[in-house]
Amino acid sequence: MLVLGIETSCDETAAAVLQDGKILLSNVIFDQIDIHGKYGGVVPELAGRSHIERIHHVITQSLDTAGVTLKQIDLIAVTRGPGLVGALLVGLNTAKGIAYALNKPLIGVNHLEGHLLAVFLQEEVAFPFLALGVSGGHTDMYRVDGFGKYKRLGQTRDDAAGECFDKVAKMMGLGYPGGPVIEKLALSGNPKAIPFPRAWLEKDSLDFSFSGLKTAVRNHLKKRESGEVPKLPDKDVAASFQTAVIDVLVKKMLLACDQNELERVVVTGGVASNSALREAVTAAVDRQSIQAYFPKPVFCTDNAAMIACAGHHRYKTFGLSQNGDLGLDARATLLLER
Ligand code: KG4
Ligand code: ZN
Repeated sequence: MLVLGIETSCDETAAAVLQDGKILLSNVIFDQIDIHGKYGGVVPELAGRSHIERIHHVITQSLDTAGVTLKQIDLIAVTRGPGLVGALLVGLNTAKGIAYALNKPLIGVNHLEGHLLAVFLQEEVAFPFLALGVSGGHTDMYRVDGFGKYKRLGQTRDDAAGECFDKVAKMMGLGYPGGPVIEKLALSGNPKAIPFPRAWLEKDSLDFSFSGLKTAVRNHLKKRESGEVPKLPDKDVAASFQTAVIDVLVKKMLLACDQNELERVVVTGGVASNSALREAVTAAVDRQSIQAYFPKPVFCTDNAAMIACAGHHRYKTFGLSQNGDLGLDARATLLLER
């Protein structure tokens, strides 16, 4: 079965062709860093316009690379939400147009389900497992009991972890997206230089909160400017901030495994491409009898291969009974449910 995946929920225009759920024939991704970089964050209107300009080329390139024609495609899987509506509509309407013109089945995919299942592009993970999804828009933990069987165990109450990386990078004048720049800067910094706060919330809570940490970094930067605190270099601020985020993610992940008796974790989403996080998770699970899985970094950040993969499994599990018609709508917010 050949699935064409299309993803335009935020600032990546992406298309991929996936055969039988695991043979990836192409994975084309155009980011828009050059467009949004100077604003320090994604500008929705510009994202939508750029998707319109590029979507045709991206799909054509993904078909050409895969060596297939549109006629050979068996299923079109497209992100329907959550995301920026103007951005989502570009991918969704393009997918609908292709499906209608060529009379192909269309399936709408939840972007978060794409992230959760991205690891299946590489290897099978036995159910049940814990999925820690950390991206620019979300920081959630799910118990995954099968394809389409997700139970949310915890979520962020304010900023997502990736959003926090982006905002801190913006405060420090480091550009967008913040995650990769902070990771690089932190490499040579001292993670213990500044004791930034960790929000544990109520005892045994699996929720997250990162806005206090963001404010603490802002206050530190102001005090550094005015000389109220020692003038530590940016690399120490970056390393101390990054460690505070990772500490909370790793401890809450272990707590969720413990509370739910889960022995496998999948760490996924844009922030999961951070090597310090991957190392901390690996070190933590080594001490417990938990197995950790990480999608390759290119499958962690937004891509259409994960959408094709989730579409493939959803189609195999539920057919077109859900989200499978031309009346599909784009959704800015969309819960991940069966
Ligand atoms: O999954 P993704 O590509 O898009 C969303 O669905 O949000 O995640 C993007 C987020 C951005 O906030 C970006 O700063 C963060 O992931 N990110 C990272 C790294 N690479 C991307 N955060 C920390 N370390 C990284 N290496
Ligand atoms: Zn994403």
